[in-house]
Amino acid sequence: MTQRMMDLARPGGDRSPVLSGLETLLREMNFAWSLVLIGEDQAGKLETLARDLRRGFSTTGDSKRITSGFSYLGTEPAIAWASACRDPLYSVMKKSIESFGLRWSSIRESLDGKPYHYVSLGPGDGQKDKVILQDLSRHNAQLCYVAVDMSTEMLRLGVPSLIRELELSRSRVLPVQLDFSSPDNVTELRRVLNVFFGEEAVLFSLLGNTMTNYEKDTELLRMLGERLLRQQDRFVLEIATTEQLNGALAQQAADEYGSSRTFREFITSALMHYTDLHIDMESVLFQGGVESDRALLTKVIYRNRTGQDIRITLPGRDHVSFPQQDTILLGVSRKYVRDHLESLLAESGVRMLRSSHSDFGGSADFGGSAHNGLGFGMDLLVLAASPEVTLPEPNNADNVWRLPRR
Ligand SMILES: C[S@@+](CC[C@H](N)C(=O)[O-])C[C@H]1O[C@@H](n2cnc3c(N)ncnc32)[C@H](O)[C@@H]1O
Repeated sequence: MTQRMMDLARPGGDRSPVLSGLETLLREMNFAWSLVLIGEDQAGKLETLARDLRRGFSTTGDSKRITSGFSYLGTEPAIAWASACRDPLYSVMKKSIESFGLRWSSIRESLDGKPYHYVSLGPGDGQKDKVILQDLSRHNAQLCYVAVDMSTEMLRLGVPSLIRELELSRSRVLPVQLDFSSPDNVTELRRVLNVFFGEEAVLFSLLGNTMTNYEKDTELLRMLGERLLRQQDRFVLEIATTEQLNGALAQQAADEYGSSRTFREFITSALMHYTDLHIDMESVLFQGGVESDRALLTKVIYRNRTGQDIRITLPGRDHVSFPQQDTILLGVSRKYVRDHLESLLAESGVRMLRSSHSDFGGSADFGGSAHNGLGFGMDLLVLAASPEVTLPEPNNADNVWRLPRR
């Protein structure tokens, strides 16, 4: 009798036929199965979305809202995001993807050629993860890739093509559907990683200026750092930056988004998908402002300019009134002023090991730009935990469940 047959025959045997079968399936089958570890209660997420849209009246985008992460939920929003990423008029994202290989190679030395597993927080279309995985796999034949996104549709869009293109073993890739802005979720994610990897080093990433989409941006980074990063781990952060702060630049930054039809389609797609609001693209406004001494802030808001009070149907068939001039905040984004980066990282409780700045103002490398000379760019930072931070060691239960190495 083979070990597998003995395991199957033994009632209560410690090898599950489902789990070991899954591994075989992932290794051997050609069918496009995706295995996703679902951590979210989808109904709860819809309720949060509806609650945020039930808020009161504001003409300035400070009440009803769709928070980051929710913008990507659903097939249409995910497809809309992928096509915005390819739009030359949504130049920030297109350039950030196209130039990523070059920018990655300028910071990767700070990883010291050590072996890492890779955990991507919000992989998007997976293009940047492809660059990182190609490189990390040269130093770690056992490399595993964990892609964490609250949108299963984004995971399905980005990860399988990446597996195919890089010929990764599907049994070393785990898409995880989870909202990483929730502290409890992140603690649980760390526990899962302890079970998989024990003391082995992990490289985390939060790319594509995602941090700046959160109202409490430094709190998000602090929470991720405190709950995920051990001394041996590293964190790659990509953020948009500006050399200066003033009102005119703030409006230019907002126009970067506003001038792209595909970005408008993306940013309104969750509203279209989850409500019965008739979307008028002229009512999507891109407002630029200066956020104290730290950033240019872009707010994307939808305003009721129909001249009438209307009612919107929400998920769950609830209704909410949407009076004339009322607004829904669809998204926020920032460009941090570069002088402020050090204090921003200090506030977030992480230390910087390496940084690379790329000016997106018209360099031939990055395909030229209409915003030549504005001082806009992207910074790619390698971060580590502060020396005084120590996460609890994996506990005994984590070790018991630790997977055997293959
Ligand atoms: C701005 S895109 C960046 C995509 C990619 N990293 C890049 O740089 O091209 C943000 C990604 O993070 C995901 N995301 C945003 N907020 C999230 C959250 N709170 N939890 C999980 N995923 C989130 C989105 O679904 C999307 O895939």
